[in-house]
Amino acid sequence: SKLLNYTHKLIDEFDASSHPLTKFTTGDNDNEGHVGDDYFLNSSDKISFFMEPGAFNERNELTKPKDKAINKIGHGLHLDPVFYPYTINSTTKEIVDKLGFQDPRVLQSMIICKQPEIGGEVPSHQDGTFLFTKPQSAIGFWIALEDCDENNGCLSYLPGSHKLVPIQKRFVKKEGGGTGFIYFNEEQRDEYDNDEKDYVKIKCRKGSLILIHNSVLHRSNLNFSDSSRYAYAFHVIDGAAEYDELNWLQVPPSGGANFTKLEL
Ligand code: FE2
Repeated sequence: SKLLNYTHKLIDEFDASSHPLTKFTTGDNDNEGHVGDDYFLNSSDKISFFMEPGAFNERNELTKPKDKAINKIGHGLHLDPVFYPYTINSTTKEIVDKLGFQDPRVLQSMIICKQPEIGGEVPSHQDGTFLFTKPQSAIGFWIALEDCDENNGCLSYLPGSHKLVPIQKRFVKKEGGGTGFIYFNEEQRDEYDNDEKDYVKIKCRKGSLILIHNSVLHRSNLNFSDSSRYAYAFHVIDGAAEYDELNWLQVPPSGGANFTKLEL
């Protein structure tokens, strides 16, 4: 597809030697990954590259070729002229209109690479943790650029969880730098079903669109196959909901929630 070819071109042109080598993980360990990294925090309007944690040795050197080491590209792809029409179009608009959005705003657009061998497991999470609004409003648009199945780490979700499991925590910029989670319970832990066997796998063909509710628990496995599993994902929040300055993703240069309006 056009997006897949264009993504490969972006990776070809990407100069890994001048990169801060930001690792990406949505895991729960605050001290892993991209903590405190301006490259990550300032990525809302850029095409930035985030690496697989497993692609580094103990001296923080890449041990894989760059096209096999990139975990994600984001988080402002929707501003790129090639990605824009796949993001802001009549289909997306119709969906958010039907969902009752008053002021739909696009943010956190990204290519998820899910590389072979090191394409990490994404632990169970709720997207409302990462795009926290009051009230919750985020909806994820997830488009498969390659066929997805249980061998290459397709998405899976816990049926009914969006109604039964309130958002447990939020991902924030910490005072003094870095990022971390704020829990809404005293135990500071996730009280939900993390058991893979209860999750339903979503096998799909390339080109499929999956909509992800802000509170649905979802995850994906390691990629056990020998090829990548690329997907393009972006999110829409309602600008009518509160999006505060604690959120990790802010519009540069001075922060704020003035994300791209979804209008035709
Ligand atoms: Fe997610």
